[in-house]
Amino acid sequence: MHTLIIAAHPSLEASRVNRKWLEEAAKHPEQITISSLYEKYPDGVIDIAAEQALVEAHDRIVLQFPFYWFNSPPMIKQWLDEVLLEGWAYGDGVDLFRSKSIGLAITAGGRENDYRPEGAFRYEISALLTPFEMTADYIKAKYETPFVWYGVNSRTRDEEIERSAKRYLDYLLQTQANSIPVESK
Ligand SMILES: Cc1cc2nc3c(=O)[nH]c(=O)nc-3n(C[C@H](O)[C@H](O)[C@H](O)COP(=O)(O)O)c2cc1C
Repeated sequence: MHTLIIAAHPSLEASRVNRKWLEEAAKHPEQITISSLYEKYPDGVIDIAAEQALVEAHDRIVLQFPFYWFNSPPMIKQWLDEVLLEGWAYGDGVDLFRSKSIGLAITAGGRENDYRPEGAFRYEISALLTPFEMTADYIKAKYETPFVWYGVNSRTRDEEIERSAKRYLDYLLQTQANSIPVESK
């Protein structure tokens, strides 16, 4: 299964985890292609035809981003708005995504316990990610269980980041989507 990562980190140079994840993923060009939006499009203008061609060439798309204000950074939303066009992604007779799956790979500052009804953030992360699930549903793609790495902050140790990257690679290189459960700590 050839996987396309659509990555969006507004300041990748300051990132620890997302940057490490992309560095490790880049070591597997046979199986993984990376489109890192803020790096590719510093002026904020997405090449829609190029992104659509990438999607067409892959059967699994993973949106990778740090969780910002309980959502994705804006370029993920921009990518969805501008690339998933009617007549190409959805609409009469369109079934491009029927054979594709969409996954999410997210780093979060909050701990898993925060994302509980009794926790600080009250909602499960799966509930907060519902718009992504519905988007996949709308275009008839299979929605994978999100890969989430919780509790990332400036005190996160290098070994923990190494461990997260290993697990992320396992997730990316799996042949059967959903065979690895949501990461928890
Ligand atoms: C603008 C901003 C908003 C954030 N909002 C959230 C949030 O809503 N929930 C959360 O768990 N973490 C939040 N965080 C923490 C980030 O998710 C965390 O710093 C990031 O995942 C670390 O990954 P990195 O090392 O790749 O930058 C926020 C951080 C920033 C800078």
